[in-house]
Amino acid sequence: MKILLASSEVFPFSKTGGLADMVGALARALAKAGHEARVVTPLYRGIREKFPAMRRVDWHFDLPLGLKYVQAELWELDLERGLKIYFIDHPGYYDRAGIYLENNLSYADNAERYIFLSKCVVHLARYLPWRADVVHVHDWQVALVPALIAQQKSEGWGNPPRTCLTIHNLAYQGVFPEDAFMLTNLPDSIFNTEGAEFFGLLNCLKAGIAYADFITTVSPRYAREITTEEFGCGLDGILRRRQKDLVGILNGVDYSEWNTTKNPHLVKPYSIGRMAGKKTNKLALQKELGLPADESTPLFGTISRLAEQKGVDIQLGALAEMLNTNMQFMLLGSGSPEYERGYRDLSRHFPRKVAVRFGYNETLAHRIEAGCDFFLMPSRFEPCGLNQMYSLRYGTIPIVRAVGGLDDSVVDWTENAQLATGIKFDEYSSRSLAKAIRKALVLFNQPKLFLVCRRSAMRADFSWDRTVHEYINAYQSGIQ
Ligand code: ADP
Ligand code: GLC
Repeated sequence: MKILLASSEVFPFSKTGGLADMVGALARALAKAGHEARVVTPLYRGIREKFPAMRRVDWHFDLPLGLKYVQAELWELDLERGLKIYFIDHPGYYDRAGIYLENNLSYADNAERYIFLSKCVVHLARYLPWRADVVHVHDWQVALVPALIAQQKSEGWGNPPRTCLTIHNLAYQGVFPEDAFMLTNLPDSIFNTEGAEFFGLLNCLKAGIAYADFITTVSPRYAREITTEEFGCGLDGILRRRQKDLVGILNGVDYSEWNTTKNPHLVKPYSIGRMAGKKTNKLALQKELGLPADESTPLFGTISRLAEQKGVDIQLGALAEMLNTNMQFMLLGSGSPEYERGYRDLSRHFPRKVAVRFGYNETLAHRIEAGCDFFLMPSRFEPCGLNQMYSLRYGTIPIVRAVGGLDDSVVDWTENAQLATGIKFDEYSSRSLAKAIRKALVLFNQPKLFLVCRRSAMRADFSWDRTVHEYINAYQSGIQ
């Protein structure tokens, strides 16, 4: 099949979170399975310098955006067989210090930047000599694409590709003042409660839910959750109405990036059969982050966007209680200044037990996954979550709240004592999380059992090779 994917971030070109990992890995998996995948994404600052093999395409866009016309250029990069990346080059929109924000403030023109991106995606889908069977868009930034395609179809575009929307996170909907709708150049009839309107505002994700031929989300449990009021973020009604076209497909992992045997970020390789290297990584990590290097102290880690979703409040509460026992904790994160302050205070309070690093650091992310004994992910909600899956492969036992993809990817003792890969808790409270941490400490003190659990975790296989056909099935079910 021919699949045109579109996303505001794609690893290894740009990344703020799991969206980039997922789109980069899915595109590669589709190509590896013998399909043709092409990806559209913005040319952000620094990408051209890092990927000098990319070429300028002789094609200038000049697309209507409200009352004006906006121009852009196109670059392409053949990443591997069957996989091409298109970069939309508009320096005014994308050549900036951040992707979505700077100094914790979202760019004021994000509606304009991503409505324009969406229009470029539609233009490519329509006028590339390579005709996609399916246009697969990810998250609110490109969620207007299905409505734009539907509109062009009604105006005479014969036989356009089918459209698939993947919701990576319902909490981010791309909601803007009504005026922004004008930038879409769509007819007013689309700005209604069954379309792009949400309480008088433009809601890009809602337009995608309304107009995509089919909708996926990134785990089966999250697909069920988002049709309930509790997790639906105000869109559960329209999602229930579209339930027969909604499917949850658990994300896969790109093990060529996330592995412990051939990984330039790690101090020493290790594997199920040769676990000694994990110890070396732990000691090096403790040293690197300025904690006492001691193999016998259980080490807990978290790598996260510091947002409400990630359960920061209950984590700070549980750690304040548990750090009086013999344990260490380290955090790599970035996000809300208030949450950063919370972790900084914790590290001041327990300077020999807590290390925190703020900012984005790819190498340290791999080292924390490899060096820690346990990975904490107490999310309030979690569409899929990739870090817990990375932890499993790195033999770092995940402690997760049983929601969304966390519940779908981790096996607790109570579910299967032989095949347990982690520790789960249900109630969203510091008390429940502290209890889960206590269970982890008990496990740590039973080395044989701990090793069994580590081995089961490392054996768990979430490779895309196993799941990419679920996307193919979804695409094909959409093709009549
Ligand atoms: P989400 O997409 O909600 O942030 P995921 O678990 O799906 O959560 O994916 C997070 C991804 O972002 C992982 O690859 C993780 O390693 C990475 N990540 C998050 N914060 C940082 C950071 N501060 N430095 C480096 N990588 C980070
Ligand atoms: C979102 C979700 C996360 C998911 C990722 C990739 O950022 O918050 O749970 O793993 O997208 O699909």
